[in-house]
Amino acid sequence: MTQEKRKRRSQLSYGKLDKDGFIHRSWMKAQGYPDHVFDGRPVIGICNTWSEITPCNSGLRELADYVKRGIWEAGGLPLEFPVTSLGETQMRPTAMLFRNLLSMDVEESIRGNPIDGVVLLGGCDKTTPGQLMGAASVNLPTIVVSSGPMLNGKFRGQDIGSGTDVWKFSEDVRAGRMSMDDFIAAESGMSRSRGVCMTMGTASTVSNLVEALGLCLPYNGSLPAVDARRQALAHMTGREIVRMVEDDIRLSDIVTKDSMLNAIRVNAAVGGSTNTVMHLLALSGRLGLDLTLEDFDSESRDIPLLVDLMPSGRYLMEDYHYAGGLPAVMKKMAAHLSLDAQTVTGESIGERLEHAQCFNDTVIRDVTDPVQENSGIWVLRGNLCPQGAIIKPNAATPELLTHTGRAVVFESIEDYKARIDAPELDVDEHCILVLKGCGPKGYPGMPEVGNMALPKKLLEQGVRDMLRLSDARMSGTAFGSVILHVAPEASAGGPLAVVRNGDLIELNGPERTLNLQISDAELEERLNAWRSEVREPTYTRGYAKLYVDTVLQADQGADLDFLQGASGDAVTRESH
Ligand code: FES
Repeated sequence: MTQEKRKRRSQLSYGKLDKDGFIHRSWMKAQGYPDHVFDGRPVIGICNTWSEITPCNSGLRELADYVKRGIWEAGGLPLEFPVTSLGETQMRPTAMLFRNLLSMDVEESIRGNPIDGVVLLGGCDKTTPGQLMGAASVNLPTIVVSSGPMLNGKFRGQDIGSGTDVWKFSEDVRAGRMSMDDFIAAESGMSRSRGVCMTMGTASTVSNLVEALGLCLPYNGSLPAVDARRQALAHMTGREIVRMVEDDIRLSDIVTKDSMLNAIRVNAAVGGSTNTVMHLLALSGRLGLDLTLEDFDSESRDIPLLVDLMPSGRYLMEDYHYAGGLPAVMKKMAAHLSLDAQTVTGESIGERLEHAQCFNDTVIRDVTDPVQENSGIWVLRGNLCPQGAIIKPNAATPELLTHTGRAVVFESIEDYKARIDAPELDVDEHCILVLKGCGPKGYPGMPEVGNMALPKKLLEQGVRDMLRLSDARMSGTAFGSVILHVAPEASAGGPLAVVRNGDLIELNGPERTLNLQISDAELEERLNAWRSEVREPTYTRGYAKLYVDTVLQADQGADLDFLQGASGDAVTRESH
């Protein structure tokens, strides 16, 4: 055993020639490992969110075997371990409630076990962000392999996109344009293979941003889940993590302020999900980077929308990969990127892009012929959102980005569901639908309900979009003129709490303002009255209580306050 090998944290367990070392090694040998695998080689944890009730991650059990091949081949010892899995379409009340719980599971599993580096296997919306947050708070050498997107959805001769076409079909049924039989038949056509949603929804956006950050091998963001080249990518990732451990390349060497700003710009160019605002802010909070909500607006102002994918455009992830994937996008927008940012392979982003090629300029446009001139996220301020709110302009109707309308208020999602289709609801297409009680504390967990379906009677009149406003999030696959993440949320006593039916609300998108048109004195009077009301806590025990008591607002990524920052990888005590 060399001196260098003894320094590995795995050797603090496996390298001891005493009672403690016996205990660590002996019980592992119950799995058939021979003596020599504890010789000081890098021990690599494979942190797996595989689960049969997270269908988007259902291929990760098998993919882990390809990662192991690469680790063995490079001289490491792979040890796979499970962590909490979060199925976006399955978990109630919302998977986002558990993202921070997953991050705690990941953090403690990595720190508590004798591993030197970690491969994160995630995919569905909240799994990769939760894994990254937890891994960041330990800061070992870290690399990501994503599930990869499903094959393109197909139904009656047309491509259909995960999520995006669900909203369309659902409104078509409500408006009488689609039969229930066709609606049910479309379910199988939409999800034809394992993998994540094949629109540029949250999962594909996150895996692309992981690639933009340099935290994975090229094309991890786009290779279809069932493409054999993803298995080869997993194999090569296993080799890479062993080298990263040998070179001591840590997660914080890759995820820096510069690489975060690259990710924000890439998010704009690919028409990425609004949910990434929350996840990047939470991740930067773990690493102590001074990323702010404003960075999402200022850094994406000059970025054109280059990728013509649903929900902002027409195509799907298979088309995107065959067109050249993220390397092609980043090469086209290279003038907007910090090319010196480092990647897991030791190359800079700039070096990585030298070999990138675009094979379809219709799917991935040139900067001189973009899908839209300006993309990204607009960050709004005003008396209705003192800590900010956001809107995704390329998903909105341009005329509604400057609009004043009468508020039609729903006090909760249940209130909305009970009344939205009532014939007597006093609403027209110029009104603004306002939803309260769906922020981090209020729901709790900030569900994806901000893209409220329009009132049935307006759909029947042919209305296709209205301005909507809430403290909720929306699915990355959704679209519409939707103001999200209003902070502070209503349940934390933000001004949203005291908006009343009939109030006028003014959005001035170009000026980035969102205001309730009442006087400061009246706003204060309403807020004082709200504060004086006595409210019984909804949750009195368990994780939900911990979450409600400690969750931060949307402008800080809705992490739990005590989880911000990092504790490193050291464990100084031994219980045996
Ligand atoms: Fe899992 Fe879309 S629901 S990725």
